Amino acid sequence: MPSILHTLNAATEAAFEALGYPAAIAGTRESDRPDMAPFQCNGAMAAAGIAKKRGEKVNPRDIAGQAVDILKDHPAIDRLDIAGPGFINLHPTLDALSTRASELKASPSGGIPQETPKTIVIDYGGANVAKPMHVGHLRSAVIGEAIKRILRAQGHTVIGDVHMGDWGLQMGHLISELSIEQPDLPYFDADKTDNYPSDSPVTMDDLARLYPKASNAAKSDPDRMEKSRVATAELQAGRAGYRALLEHFINVSVAALKVGYGNLGVEFDLWKGEACVDPLIPDMIDGLKAQGITEEDGGALIIRVEEEGEKKDVPPVMLLASSGAVLYHTTDLATLVDRKSDPDPGLIVYVVDQRQALHFEQVFRAAVKAGWYDRDQLFHAGFGTMNGKDGKPFKTREGGVLRLEDLLEIMNEAAAKRLSESGIGADFEPSERTEIARKVGLAALKFADLQNQRMTNYVFDPERFTAFEGKTGPYLLYAVVRIKSILRRADEEGASQGDITVIEPAEQQLVMALDAFGRAVTQSAEKYAPHILCDHIYRVAQSFSRFYSDCPIMVDDVSDDVRGSRLSLAALTLAQLEMGLTLLGIDAPERM
Ligand code: ARG
Repeated sequence: MPSILHTLNAATEAAFEALGYPAAIAGTRESDRPDMAPFQCNGAMAAAGIAKKRGEKVNPRDIAGQAVDILKDHPAIDRLDIAGPGFINLHPTLDALSTRASELKASPSGGIPQETPKTIVIDYGGANVAKPMHVGHLRSAVIGEAIKRILRAQGHTVIGDVHMGDWGLQMGHLISELSIEQPDLPYFDADKTDNYPSDSPVTMDDLARLYPKASNAAKSDPDRMEKSRVATAELQAGRAGYRALLEHFINVSVAALKVGYGNLGVEFDLWKGEACVDPLIPDMIDGLKAQGITEEDGGALIIRVEEEGEKKDVPPVMLLASSGAVLYHTTDLATLVDRKSDPDPGLIVYVVDQRQALHFEQVFRAAVKAGWYDRDQLFHAGFGTMNGKDGKPFKTREGGVLRLEDLLEIMNEAAAKRLSESGIGADFEPSERTEIARKVGLAALKFADLQNQRMTNYVFDPERFTAFEGKTGPYLLYAVVRIKSILRRADEEGASQGDITVIEPAEQQLVMALDAFGRAVTQSAEKYAPHILCDHIYRVAQSFSRFYSDCPIMVDDVSDDVRGSRLSLAALTLAQLEMGLTLLGIDAPERM
């Protein structure tokens, strides 16, 4: 089921080929001047260049004229004109638009081109055990969730892995701090090796308190730091009581993280982390040594990954510190080993802060050097920071990192304020109003995040994010809810959807916008760039708005056929907006 653009593209390419030019120069695209024509082909200029090289002297306008002669009988093309030096403007037929709209309406995939399925792991979320989730984890979760859903919509098998940070010094901090507070717990009895209590000795609140206490103390007190280091090393060396504690820490944290991510509408298939690949590390290191790609360096074990002729040196991968401790590189490499054995993905995408770009470059190079993966199977989809109005990564008024929970609360309040200012839902039950505010706040935050190019930093501005005008989440939710209410009212009045017949300019524009959905999804997937899909959805919502004001539905002087067609267009628009928002991880209320 080709899109209109695809059909026109094939036609112009074939026409230029028939004239003796390569198809590749004659693609059709959406026009820069939609007021003149929706589509354009600029092949004639390139063709004239080719002709000149061949020693022929041809004017691009003449080539355009020849192409138009071939194209003018094409069933999907209504009108063609030549502009300026030889731009070909194309107008599709109303029939082609009507057919395309009907096809889209009937298509379960909504017109998203299906790809040859691959198994893909998305490594996102990345929260750390015992540390509260903060705004940095927000971006990873929101962008990763969207990328996961977009790739799934293309037909891939996509596995989301939260890849928790649960194996570093923070564990040593927790263990040692707990041993100071409660030295009599059985976990600290060095002679004991089993039969630990099954109930956790700590709650999430305890963990959230113990960690900063330890890490602050360690900053000024070298002995305290040493205690945490020793605990980390003993944990990693397998001390039974510490392992048992770690298990409790992880379970308690996972339960809290499930709630936290759940509130964000983010779901993982795998709740793995750094700790669970620890058993793979000894064999992995032996294997890497046997391959001869490791080196001893001042007591540490490294893999050199620099490449010749590089402007900036890429430092080696650190497999083992001189203390013997495993590092972030090590656990990420072991995770690659783990993933290779299951699910053996064709692609792994890491949705992690751009500030970790060097880390991933190093890890990827080592994994390729070890022969585990090809370079194009590993991709770091980095992202910029969410900043405060001062242009620096967002901090609380007190200068601390903002907890995710508090961030959501800020959004919630901003949304509730907006809703009451605009009188939306004034006559609804308080519980429904609360639920709507939650959805609007979350949509505002997610859309504000996703609509930026991934790498761009942006400023946290709840006022702007929650506006109902402009390119915002609330604007889109409102568009969805409005169409729902139009369809509900039509239903109540006994009007039904009918065959789509595109006539009016606003109808044409709407269908051309809807036609671009599949492309937007494909491009978002290729570049791991949800903002492309955001742009598309916004365009559809705007086109609908124009359509609805130019093409009334429930008025007396509209015939049943026209009304049925317009209702179908409204239903198609709603389906696409909802599908698009779902791919972005955004949930709309039923009404507001
Ligand atoms: N836990 C890490 C952090 O908070 C992010 C983990 C990202 N994923 C990975 N495979 N390294 O920075």
